[in-house]
Amino acid sequence: MTQSGPPPGRLAVYPGSFDPLTNGHVDIILRGARLFERILVAVLVNADKKPLFDAAERVAMVQEVFKEYPNVEVDTFDGLLVEYARQKRANVLVRGLRAVSDFEYEFQMALMNRHLEPALETVFMMPAEQYTYLSSRLIKEVVDLGGDVHGLVPPLVEARLRDRGRR
Ligand code: PNS
Repeated sequence: MTQSGPPPGRLAVYPGSFDPLTNGHVDIILRGARLFERILVAVLVNADKKPLFDAAERVAMVQEVFKEYPNVEVDTFDGLLVEYARQKRANVLVRGLRAVSDFEYEFQMALMNRHLEPALETVFMMPAEQYTYLSSRLIKEVVDLGGDVHGLVPPLVEARLRDRGRR
């Protein structure tokens, strides 16, 4: 069996909209940081026609939360994810799986990404159980309707959501 040799360091890309970062994302990033040499949180620029936070704000929040983790990096990306991963020479894509309902979409994406770039492996990780019902969309909805999201997002994200609500 021939082996092309190990890649130069295990870089995992964790892509997403992160609008905003939730404690579920934080949980996955921490797991990734333990598993891979480096984990690069890749914030999709045009995730949504009207994201609540622009890409620079989303990046700044992730950077602040992980400022003490030297192997957690943050960047933005646009266009095809596999192209971005190729440019970064990443070996792995990380995605979180919360429930069976995530599976179909994630399965489709993973196989399409594999079709586009067979050398890139998608690794799924499950967040801690208390975060399995969390999503950025629900966080925004709850905040919008005046609900409390304490403990569901990092404190600085909670503060930013509060500021945003006041405007
Ligand atoms: O946090 P999200 O919104 O579930 O993340 C989805 C994301 C950003 C991973 C996905 O939309 C994506 O990869 N977009 C980039 C465009 C792309 O490569 N599309 C083909 C994926 S099969």
